[in-house]
Amino acid sequence: MPAQRVSVSRARLDEAVRAVTPEGHMATVKGESRFESDASRYAAYLDTPEGRLRADLSFANVQDFLPARPDVNSLRALDLGCGTAAASIRLARLGIHVTAVDSSAAMLDVAERGSAEAGVHDRIGLQQGDAVDLTNICTARSFDIVLCHNLLEYVDEPGVVLRGAASVLRGPSAILSVLVRNQAGEVLKAALRAGDLAAAEQSLDAEWGQESLYGGRVRLFTPEAVDALLKDASLTIAARRGVRTIADYLPERISRAAEYERTFALERRMGSREEFLGIARYMQYLARL
Ligand SMILES: C[S@@+](CC[C@H](N)C(=O)[O-])C[C@H]1O[C@@H](n2cnc3c(N)ncnc32)[C@H](O)[C@@H]1O
Repeated sequence: MPAQRVSVSRARLDEAVRAVTPEGHMATVKGESRFESDASRYAAYLDTPEGRLRADLSFANVQDFLPARPDVNSLRALDLGCGTAAASIRLARLGIHVTAVDSSAAMLDVAERGSAEAGVHDRIGLQQGDAVDLTNICTARSFDIVLCHNLLEYVDEPGVVLRGAASVLRGPSAILSVLVRNQAGEVLKAALRAGDLAAAEQSLDAEWGQESLYGGRVRLFTPEAVDALLKDASLTIAARRGVRTIADYLPERISRAAEYERTFALERRMGSREEFLGIARYMQYLARL
């Protein structure tokens, strides 16, 4: 049986920007058009050491905070801006039932194939929808785990998305995981990796960075900005984690592939230390109602 694929919010679809891809899919729901053009490029990135590290570290942090239930099958998760559903598949492998929402039909196609190949399609419901519209897509107070990983960088109103995410958390034990790109990480990468002092200086106060995979702009966050967004959504921070605190700044002579396990172990230790949060490429927040 294929993964459940529901096109949501018909009215929303009607008013949304409509386009037909060469394959004949309708790329309709308002979202980021860059993820429609070449979803497989993003899937390939997730297989690189950098992509794997971001996914492995952020998932390990989520696992540390999974709500305790005698029966894991009773947990319900929402993966918002799921992309290829890489995180959804990991949750489903644990026995958790996942609703995976993305605005991109092309991403959902990749997600559908991936969940079928992983043999967890019966535990993942795929929905096409705009994260800004979450309250019209999902029932309030219905999820124990909500992932919002590398989505806020691409939406016009991160605050609206977080308030929606808060509204679908089931109760005080439910956990929201937010992963965003850190502004300071752009500064350090430009200075330490590229040796580009002008770019480093420019990034110091930049609200937007340049995204290397598709070339568009990407919203940057500071710890203070995320703290304020979560507070505004009535969320309390349970933990803050740095993701790729050091990996992006290592000298070239260190093989990212050969030293993967060692880098991962070092990252796990550094990522939970508050003094390294500010330098990480990504910041992950675990928050509760
Ligand atoms: C950088 S990818 C992250 C994918 C996944 N969460 C991960 O961590 O690998 C961003 C995803 O957000 C989706 N997206 C962008 N804007 C969106 C919106 N307004 N509503 C729902 N999804 C959106 C894109 O289609 C893309 O799949």
